[in-house]
Amino acid sequence: MNGKVYLVGAGPGSKDLLTLRALEVIKQADVILYDDLIGEVAEILQETKAELISVGKRRGAHKFEQDEINKMLLEYAKAGKTVVRLKGGDPFVFGRGGEEAEFLKKNGVAFEYVPGISSAIAVPGKVGIPLTHRNYDPALIFITGQESKERLNWKALAQLNATIVVLMGLSNIEKICSALIENGKDPETPVAVIEKGFSPDERVVVGKLKDVAEKVKSMSVSPPAVIVIGGVVELKDP
Ligand SMILES: C[S@@+](CC[C@H](N)C(=O)[O-])C[C@H]1O[C@@H](n2cnc3c(N)ncnc32)[C@H](O)[C@@H]1O
Repeated sequence: MNGKVYLVGAGPGSKDLLTLRALEVIKQADVILYDDLIGEVAEILQETKAELISVGKRRGAHKFEQDEINKMLLEYAKAGKTVVRLKGGDPFVFGRGGEEAEFLKKNGVAFEYVPGISSAIAVPGKVGIPLTHRNYDPALIFITGQESKERLNWKALAQLNATIVVLMGLSNIEKICSALIENGKDPETPVAVIEKGFSPDERVVVGKLKDVAEKVKSMSVSPPAVIVIGGVVELKDP
């Protein structure tokens, strides 16, 4: 009989931000395929009986292609194993969990989605930036910084009164800021770049749309980082 796959969110990196359901399925797992951005949750994995497989895919250092990961999920499930596919944040927020769910469904493998706290929300919140506040923009948008320029409607993004949260955007921060300015967003709009949230190396760089890319470069900010564009950045902790 087939086993089951759990698509689990590890949260933003702090082990006490793992959900009770996530902890329960991690403890039951025979095999855990995990990504890089799971922070302290990696320590919990060491205490389990499961076979641990790192399938982390950081930019420029691909360990496993998505097809290979899918194949492993299928093979372990067919062998009757309880499989945890552990991802940073929430599996369905820019985490390719949707693709894995689709693949498992297509192949008749039972799976369950176990939500995690997304870095997109928790990392800004950790440094005092609430993504919404009634005195600021009335909308909230999440974008990936890795999308080709053509597929995002920069004009709409620039003109909507929305807080914009960018994941995987650090390497393209200059292009992202220029595209927004070129399409009419105020160059004075506050921007925060939060590097390695929830880790001892956490740093925040604050600037304006017109100069934040330069600041990020001069401070050698490195991934992972969440970028927040909008007035709410003014609320950041001092
Ligand atoms: C592939 S996406 C996965 C997002 C994840 N599924 C989530 O919900 O948080 C990876 C991006 O998430 C952001 N990220 C994840 N963990 C982070 C952290 N601890 N600090 C800052 N950014 C983080 C960065 O933008 C990074 O490039």
